[in-house]
Amino acid sequence: MPNNINNSSISLWQASTTIPIFPTLENDSETDVCVIGAGIAGLTTAYLLSKQGKKVLLIEARNIGSGETGRTTAHFFPPDEWYHSVENSFGVDHSILVAESFSKAVDLVESIIKTEHIECSFKRLNGYLYSLFEKENKKIDEELNAARRAGVTVQKLEQVPGVNFATGPCIQYSNQAQFHPLNYLKGLSNAIIGNGGRIYCGTRALTIDSDKSIQIVSTTSKKIRAKAIVVATNTPFNDTVVMHTKQSAYMTYVVGIRVPRGSVPHILLWDTGDPYYYLRLESPEYDADYEILVVGGRDHKVGQDLHPEHRYEEIEQWIREHFPMAETVEYRWSGEIMEPADGMAFLGRNPMDDNNIYIITGDSGNGMTHCTIGAMIVTDLIMERSNPWASIYDPKRAVIHGISDFISEQANTLMQYSDWVKGGDVDTINDIPRGQGAIVQNGAHKIAVYKDFQGKLHGLSPTCPHLGCIVHFNSAEHSWDCPCHGSRFNIKGEILHGPAASPLKILPL
Ligand SMILES: Cc1cc2nc3c(=O)[nH]c(=O)nc-3n(C[C@H](O)[C@H](O)[C@H](O)COP(=O)(O)OP(=O)(O)OC[C@H]3O[C@@H](n4cnc5c(N)ncnc54)[C@H](O)[C@@H]3O)c2cc1C
Ligand code: FES
Repeated sequence: MPNNINNSSISLWQASTTIPIFPTLENDSETDVCVIGAGIAGLTTAYLLSKQGKKVLLIEARNIGSGETGRTTAHFFPPDEWYHSVENSFGVDHSILVAESFSKAVDLVESIIKTEHIECSFKRLNGYLYSLFEKENKKIDEELNAARRAGVTVQKLEQVPGVNFATGPCIQYSNQAQFHPLNYLKGLSNAIIGNGGRIYCGTRALTIDSDKSIQIVSTTSKKIRAKAIVVATNTPFNDTVVMHTKQSAYMTYVVGIRVPRGSVPHILLWDTGDPYYYLRLESPEYDADYEILVVGGRDHKVGQDLHPEHRYEEIEQWIREHFPMAETVEYRWSGEIMEPADGMAFLGRNPMDDNNIYIITGDSGNGMTHCTIGAMIVTDLIMERSNPWASIYDPKRAVIHGISDFISEQANTLMQYSDWVKGGDVDTINDIPRGQGAIVQNGAHKIAVYKDFQGKLHGLSPTCPHLGCIVHFNSAEHSWDCPCHGSRFNIKGEILHGPAASPLKILPL
């Protein structure tokens, strides 16, 4: 299984492309729009604005696609929050707008790929939602009817075509899509540069200071003055509390397994489970005989399973039960998604201020689509144009429709603070195996200790710099994960995922 020097997993996409390298920001700069984050949200926004003639400067803390876009499975499929649920919560007018935004997002991606000649194996294909159990069939019918009312092209079939196991009734969604996400980002980066935009990597935004007309981004190197800022960092680092009560961070797991070419149909497939299994096929050009079946699922809250390796085994078992022709496991990776409490992403003006600061977050398992919709909405807001979907995705809204989820997620977060009165994970440092980490109680203090493969100890403060929860070691990714709002750090304490805006402090041992 490919692993990098941090011993975190490597996705199929990371293993099968090279990413363009951009320099660090070396001078104080001015621009119309500063975009923060080079995932699909940031790069699509930067692309659209640069096409409109705006001066765009994009900064990225690490490299292009080093966040969740490099770890996705890249299906473009219907909302995780089913049309039935959207309609129940918000009404049919709302679900019509959701369906329209989803369809236009895939159209936009397809047209960018054509215009910019991006080679990213984009493919239109059918998606199928099937019910796991007979008692769930009613849900399939409800969803079918709600999707129809939303204007989506769907039909009910008694069996998913082309698969060898009995799926039972399913909904067929026509004209869904998939692609190679990192090759898409590569193409977007080149197009942004072609449009006169600037991209700087290895440049982390630390703070945003603003007055009515100009925003100043302080970074790990220089300062940027911009008329507008787009925070496309997957979860906003510039907002300490409000947005992090409206969404919750989950890990999701993926297995990529070899299957003989032609033995699995080119479809998107997902089930009615909660969380669900989802799958697609990728056909590497280098292998004439095999394809990679990519299956994801087994989600859990970030930082709330210290030894999640069993999740890969469960996915593999599921694959072997349903696709007995599957051969060797080639990839195993995990990543983070942000689940909005009412099921709708947060795309638009930052709720915390009246300045020109915009956020794209709350992606859920639909980040390819949501981030593209977010880029369209934010571009229109910055260009001072109206956008038909801006109000339904407005980050300012109260999450009254997901109130019970909201309450249970907040209760779960509060419970994590009780870690402060618990003891360490192990009695002494000697009990930590090589290549593992644990929280160690040292008198009145706690230390996050990682023992590397040579036996050398690395000590960090376990206090998450976001809002002070205690991080936990993730033995599958070799990262320190915060169970409260999803911040993650590598074994050196460096940020892998926000909302934390500063690293874990190094403690001498
Ligand atoms: C395993 C998995 C499977 C998924 N499957 C699907 C799927 O099938 N379909 C789908 O639609 N979605 C899916 N998703 C969700 C989707 O991948 C994400 O929602 C999407 O990639 C998020 O894109 P983004 O641009 O918001 O964030 P990211 O890709 O994470 O980009 C944010 C970038 O911001 C940078 N950054 C962060 N903080 C700073 C800072 N302070 N300064 C500068 N840069 C910063 C990060 O380094 C990162 O590169 C999946 C996610 C996972 C993990
Ligand atoms: S992510 Fe909020 S306290 Fe750690």
